[in-house]
Amino acid sequence: MKYFFGLLLWMNVLGLSARETLKSPDGDLELTFSLDQKGTPVYALTFKGKPVILPGKLGIVIANDSISLRDGFTMTGTRVSSVNDSWVPVWGQSSRIRNHYNELEVTLYQEKRATEILLRFRLFDDGLGFRYEFPKQKNLNYFIIQDELTEFSLAGDHKAFWLPGDYNTEEYRTSTTLISEIIPRLKTRTLTVGENYPLYENKGVFSVQSPLMMKSPDNLYINIHEAALVDYPAMSLELNDRKFKVHLTPDAVGNKAYIQTGFTTPWRTVLVSDDARDILASNTILNLNEPCALETTDWIKPVKYVGVWWEMFVKGSTWAYTNETNTKLGKTDYSALTPNGTHGATTENVKKYIDFAAKHGFDQVLVEGWNEGWEDWYGLWKEDVFDFVTPYPDFDLAYLRDYAQSKGVRLMMHHETSAAATNYERRMGEAFTFMNDNRYNAVKTGYVGYPIPRGEWRSGQWMASHYLRVVKEAAKHHIMVNSHEAVRPTGLCRTYPNWLAQESARGTEFEALGGSAPDHTTILPFTRLVGGPMDYTPGIFQLTFDYYNPDNNNRVHTTLVKQLALYVTMYSPLQMAADLVENYERFPDAFRFIKDVAVDWDETHILEAEPGDYITIARKAKGKAEWFVGGITDENGRTAKIDLGFLPAGRKFTAIIYEDAKDTHWETNPMTYKIRTVEVTSKTVLSPVLAPGGGVAISIK
Ligand code: NOJ
Ligand code: CA
Repeated sequence: MKYFFGLLLWMNVLGLSARETLKSPDGDLELTFSLDQKGTPVYALTFKGKPVILPGKLGIVIANDSISLRDGFTMTGTRVSSVNDSWVPVWGQSSRIRNHYNELEVTLYQEKRATEILLRFRLFDDGLGFRYEFPKQKNLNYFIIQDELTEFSLAGDHKAFWLPGDYNTEEYRTSTTLISEIIPRLKTRTLTVGENYPLYENKGVFSVQSPLMMKSPDNLYINIHEAALVDYPAMSLELNDRKFKVHLTPDAVGNKAYIQTGFTTPWRTVLVSDDARDILASNTILNLNEPCALETTDWIKPVKYVGVWWEMFVKGSTWAYTNETNTKLGKTDYSALTPNGTHGATTENVKKYIDFAAKHGFDQVLVEGWNEGWEDWYGLWKEDVFDFVTPYPDFDLAYLRDYAQSKGVRLMMHHETSAAATNYERRMGEAFTFMNDNRYNAVKTGYVGYPIPRGEWRSGQWMASHYLRVVKEAAKHHIMVNSHEAVRPTGLCRTYPNWLAQESARGTEFEALGGSAPDHTTILPFTRLVGGPMDYTPGIFQLTFDYYNPDNNNRVHTTLVKQLALYVTMYSPLQMAADLVENYERFPDAFRFIKDVAVDWDETHILEAEPGDYITIARKAKGKAEWFVGGITDENGRTAKIDLGFLPAGRKFTAIIYEDAKDTHWETNPMTYKIRTVEVTSKTVLSPVLAPGGGVAISIK
């Protein structure tokens, strides 16, 4: 095993501070840890000698405790170790993941409080992870965190890809500005998500969310996020000049986190490289999470699905069965109400989707609006909205269950909770048993609105624990989870691989709600996807919505081919073909790519990448001699360079290339494309031309 680490321990002249250094396995990253004159922990990070994180403080403020854990520390022990091994994920971007790091463990003692804490730093070749550890001890058992003082002090006025800090949503458009422009931009208060969420306002505090992607003036790519968010609030990054400080989401009474010792915080992560592709290829956040905690995983399978869903956004279908309101769970007799005639989840419509799924090889059919309660579901802070087991009168669950089974597909369950997490916790055991009894093995959950317990936020400690309780309970029932509006992911899908995907960002639905910029999906893999797979729901073919209604000027901000490429560039083991089935029937030749594309992979090769501009990725399907390539660009057209050197040498393959046509443009002519079949080898280099807002998709057999 080849590894080395630099351990340097010296006391300064006065004997008041100590300093430790640690290098990454390849030696490019170097961490320095020290205590300053006041005994405050300070760390810094360099890459190939360039500063990445300037000296910044670490510490914890304990509620009602004037001493806290911020200074007065002495270093009582250090330990350096290395790990170089690998593990096999249940599903993923590659069939084996290397875990190679050097670790520094620092024990700190604070005399005034007679308290010991540990700091653990891990340096991988592509980044740093560090966390606080609070061992069980005489003078520290239960405490409340009022503030975490961790700083990320940047070395320059970097270009940043950021979302405004908000305790309750990640569904903003990304802003791309210099760090120095963030606060002026936040002050304009124009950055709304298009729903009625307010910007979180905390007087004098300006913050952004993580994952925060940045590019330095000297071309370092830097990403700040967290790993393993367990029993702790999510962090935002509070900005002061070029220094970010951790800002934890408070709870209903203003506290941040309730801790019982024998506890470790989530890891704070800094990914760094001078090649943007390394950020996309990084497994550091997964590696910092605990290994799989489930006893068996053979029931977990990647899923490709269609669903009764997009028609609610573009065709006027409704989740609700009736236009009457003030319905009461368990009391309202729906069979006595007048149906509204627009309900999407009817037996007949679902049957059509089952037939389509069966014909084209999809695993599942999502059905939203199948259950009672949608009349008053949103914006009322109502607790008992849904019971998750009672279908509407026009949704024949038993019939559809048996019909789907006879066709070899499954229905996908939908549990919109409207963020009434208390209601869901009380009912989920029964709801999952109901799923087991009716052949459902995957659930899409949703948390639209403000949480109940009232006063909690979707990114606070209580809700972070809630999402995990759901995933663990689902695992007991062998159910896979796709959570929408849950807090941004932090790699917990390694520990709980039944947590197949999350939304937790601005998904395709926003193309029908005001739109997303053409560069949106060239940024998301560098931001949101750093924490785990996203249920982005690509595959829209009818890109303009005046097709449905002449007054609807909304549209998708891509070309049709870019919708295909997203199946490769937006990694997820759960992929939806989101458009209406009748639209796929109009474009069977392009639809073939969605049918063919894999959802689980042996290998991933990031061929080209620049955040906000373009991404080209090639992947090998799991257990098959099939490769898929996706390339996307922002509002600027470009010629991609696709070197097929990843193919086995000395063999010939057939490639089907889906390209934008000569006159294709996301804005003026998005739905034109051309498809050609060519013979390729590992020596082939393709140069497809991507239209503005366009893409390229290739399947190779
Ligand atoms: C928001 C989700 O993202 C969307 O997919 C879903 O259809 C609605 N909530 C209703 O649950
Ligand atoms: Ca959503």
